[in-house]
Amino acid sequence: MTVHFIGAGPGAPDLLTLRGRDLIASSPVCLYAGSLVPAAVLDHCPPGARIVNTAPMDLDAIIATILEAHGQGQDVARLHSGDLSIWSAMGEQLRRLRALGIPVSVTPGVPAFAAAAAALETELTVPRLAQSLILTRTPGRASSMPEGENLAAFAATGSTLAIHLSIHNLARVVADLLPHYGPDCPVAVVWRASWHDERIVRARLDDVEQAVAGTMERTALILVGRALEVAEDTVAESSLYAPDYDRRFRPQSAASPFVGEHE
Ligand SMILES: C[S@@+](CC[C@H](N)C(=O)[O-])C[C@H]1O[C@@H](n2cnc3c(N)ncnc32)[C@H](O)[C@@H]1O
Repeated sequence: MTVHFIGAGPGAPDLLTLRGRDLIASSPVCLYAGSLVPAAVLDHCPPGARIVNTAPMDLDAIIATILEAHGQGQDVARLHSGDLSIWSAMGEQLRRLRALGIPVSVTPGVPAFAAAAAALETELTVPRLAQSLILTRTPGRASSMPEGENLAAFAATGSTLAIHLSIHNLARVVADLLPHYGPDCPVAVVWRASWHDERIVRARLDDVEQAVAGTMERTALILVGRALEVAEDTVAESSLYAPDYDRRFRPQSAASPFVGEHE
């Protein structure tokens, strides 16, 4: 018996890995975080599966449910939204299960920031403009931020920011970022990326609050940075496919250090 932690992706049921889908299909018990994992993902469960929404449960109740399945030798598919490596609460479950000697596996998923970037049809890194992406959040009722991890500090780097769990805090986000990114900095807010009712608001830092105007709550990602608005005629292209760029898989001259390496 194994508890399979599976990144259930951003929402669309076909944005699961094949491994994740197959594990869901072979597990007679499925526990899912119902606040973010849409019901359509549960269509991958086998007929007759026991399906439990853990949104109203506490950790003890979740572990008790898993122990019950363990007693019956039944594999469990444990679904969390997006990928498991960020804000999934997988850590505390893993620690409890390890202490109980219950085997686990972890299967990654498509994170919300990637689904949002796909919805925007954009790259979040652009040569010479932004070469880093910071995944962050603002403090919440249950989670304070460690000292030093604040929007002003991240903004000072000029990186692209992907701000999670913060749409209710948009005014604060704008106030913290304005001094660093300037009023005309592009912002994109993607609500329910990949869901059938996905919505996108593109704005500038100084008018994004007005553009969103309280129309989105909870499942929205705020993306901020110059990389979001690269003109079509931009010269900000990577060297990767530049005709004269000497690289390992495309040596450009007999003097190239890479000549002969891949013959
Ligand atoms: C608890 S975190 C989960 C993050 C998730 N583990 C991931 O890999 O993206 C929830 C936050 O992720 C963002 N989020 C999750 N799914 C999203 C989606 N489909 N579209 C936009 N934002 C999403 C929102 O900022 C939401 O408040």
